[in-house]
Amino acid sequence: MSKLRTLGEFIVEKQQDFPHASGELSSLLSSISLAAKIVNREINKAGLVDITGATGVDNIQGEEQQKLDAYANEQFKAALEARDQVCGVGSEEEDEAVIFTQQLNQHAKYVVLMDPLDGSSNIDVNVSVGTIFCIYERLSPIGTPPTDADFLQPGHRQVAAGYVVYGSSTILVYTTGNGVNGFTYDPSIGTFCLSHENMTIPKDGKIYSINEGNYIRFPQGVKQYIKYCQESVPAEHRPYTSRYIGSLASDFHRNLIKGGIYLYPSTESHPQGKLRLLYECNPMAFIVEQAGGIATDGNTRILDIVPDELHQRAPLFLGSTNMVNTAHDFLKAHPDK
Ligand code: AHG
Ligand code: MN
Ligand code: MN
Repeated sequence: MSKLRTLGEFIVEKQQDFPHASGELSSLLSSISLAAKIVNREINKAGLVDITGATGVDNIQGEEQQKLDAYANEQFKAALEARDQVCGVGSEEEDEAVIFTQQLNQHAKYVVLMDPLDGSSNIDVNVSVGTIFCIYERLSPIGTPPTDADFLQPGHRQVAAGYVVYGSSTILVYTTGNGVNGFTYDPSIGTFCLSHENMTIPKDGKIYSINEGNYIRFPQGVKQYIKYCQESVPAEHRPYTSRYIGSLASDFHRNLIKGGIYLYPSTESHPQGKLRLLYECNPMAFIVEQAGGIATDGNTRILDIVPDELHQRAPLFLGSTNMVNTAHDFLKAHPDK
């Protein structure tokens, strides 16, 4: 029987393998795992306690905030502030970046960007949701409050990124730029244990994931790519199947394991698509590249986009290399918007 390795043990073991080795980053990752366990506990009680439904408040993006969005946001913020490794957090649920004001936090060298609860429309119906996060070293001097520039760094500067899927089991997947590893939560011992070592995404797959309800508003290249998925994939890859949960973390996790493409393109009314660059696209792009896949906005590598707003959106083409490249061919052949 292979050795059981906990997330905590794994983080410490791997500390020296990457250029950003430090006990601080390990402590930061373990605070994320703690918050994930607390959120997981609450999600498991959805329906029994007053955690489903909306708060009655819209977030800055005009989306209805769910009670669990607000709860997860508070839990992750509190866990990150408590460990003194983080000087500020950018969150989907916060209009502006949150600056931690304690002296020890101001001396911290990391900022975190996060989507505390991803796929929140799934909560009330018992379907998988997730958390997405990434970590950067600050650019501003240690000991001062973090600035906008700390949060608006291109994705290729991430030092770590990960996601949690609260699904049929709960799994935490992360990278520090040296491969991708997944840890399944064992509720009987309250610990994430290594279950998916050195994850790689197949070069090809049979799954395409897109909200086809928006079909009529998609660019011509995307419409043609969908037709290709439905009608004319080469025999060796046929038939493609359509799978879409409506939670990026869950859709991506499936495609990472099985091979597939996730698309959230621009539409006429939303030229930048729906997904947020800093805490949805960038972390997934870092992870997929580490696993051997690709992430673009249909043209540019996601990790090379220089952001200018905290809640900026970007179209996303994410997944198996050959599938994303084929989608690009269709976009190039039909360059209309
Ligand atoms: P969030 O719940 O954090 O706002 O994210 C929802 C995102 C993403 O997870 C999902 O893939 C996508 O929005 C679903 O959007 P549609 O309902 O437009 O397909
Ligand atoms: Mn989301
Ligand atoms: Mn969210």
